[in-house]
Amino acid sequence: TQPLRLGIAGLGTVGVGVVKIIRQQAALLTARTGREIVISAVSARSRGKDRGVALSGYDWEDDPVVLARRDDVDVFIELMGGSDGPAKAATEAALAAGKDVVTANKAMLAMHGQALAESAEAAGRVIRFEAAVAGGIPVIKALTEGLAGNQITRVMGVMNGSCNYILTRMESAGLSYEQVFDEANGLGYLEADPELDVGGIDAGHKLSLLSAIAFGTQVDFDGVELEGIGRIKIEDIRQAADMGYRIKLLGVAQMTGRGLEQRMSPCLVPADSPLGQLEGGTNMVVLEGDAVGQIVLRGAGAGEGPTASAVMGDVCDIARGFRLCMFGQPAATLKVAPSARSTLP
Ligand code: NDP
Ligand code: HSE
Repeated sequence: TQPLRLGIAGLGTVGVGVVKIIRQQAALLTARTGREIVISAVSARSRGKDRGVALSGYDWEDDPVVLARRDDVDVFIELMGGSDGPAKAATEAALAAGKDVVTANKAMLAMHGQALAESAEAAGRVIRFEAAVAGGIPVIKALTEGLAGNQITRVMGVMNGSCNYILTRMESAGLSYEQVFDEANGLGYLEADPELDVGGIDAGHKLSLLSAIAFGTQVDFDGVELEGIGRIKIEDIRQAADMGYRIKLLGVAQMTGRGLEQRMSPCLVPADSPLGQLEGGTNMVVLEGDAVGQIVLRGAGAGEGPTASAVMGDVCDIARGFRLCMFGQPAATLKVAPSARSTLP
């Protein structure tokens, strides 16, 4: 059997994690997939940077689009980030050149998921994106594969670890939002543009991707009612605690008589519920199906190891020959659901 040859664009937190797994777990990956998984070439902005992992055995490409088109790349791994720019250009180039794609880029998929799914199917290729939602938690697989026989009735969850860290730290240390924001930013927990986290945008991107799979609809990020955590005061958290509640940045998506309802906003949740017990940077996704009932998935939503774990799960699926449609069904069958938000008076 031929090896599966990867081209990795982006050698930051996640990209380095992926390289480490491939280097450290080569035998296990081959045993599980029946193929050797090798890296042909890599790309990042600065070639000389020490990334804490040996890259000398791999070709270097300055331009991720060139990397995506290389003849010795079967799967293009997009780990640069950004909804447009090089990430989108290289992903499109990879599909056009007949490569499968694995990405962790929720911003790109929330904006261009439908078009990319159509391009992938037209080219006979697959795009996998387990790492884009809730990091290491295999929620995309749960929805597209394990729960494929269910009518999904609701998807809920805490999908941004930084916001959960800020809210739980405010509570435990009695600090203001501004104090904990500065602390989290100093520790490098927040995105380069922190508004993506605290404005609920990053979590909204993730919710819009889960909704598409759960309800068979085209990704509708604009339909997500968004409110971030910037207005939460320590007094709000204390009052909630007095009543037996905690404040969480909670996403909820469900199909209603008015259309698809998607909300990402600070909510009161009972302190003794699974969501109410979620601490620090952890994520939790709650899935409800007509046959299965409720499933609760909990784990690390970010970080080198957990996110690389999800990327490698997708790579292994491709190595094994799984050819699942991006959103669990052909792109042409995804409906444009009326947004419940747009029907509000
Ligand atoms: P980083 O900022 O750590 O790394 C980004 C990498 O992309 C860097 O190596 C950078 O190069 C490279 N890069 C950026 N622009 C270009 C370009 N124009 N050409 C070539 N390379 C470029 O990001 P992360 O690893 O944290 O995130 C990667 C993706 O994974 C994002 O989409 C993110 O949203 C997603 N993700 C991240 C998680 C996390 O825990 N970090 C969790 C879940 C998803 P250089 O190093 O030289 O600057
Ligand atoms: N900024 C994101 C978070 C990273 O805090 O959850 C993982 O997507």
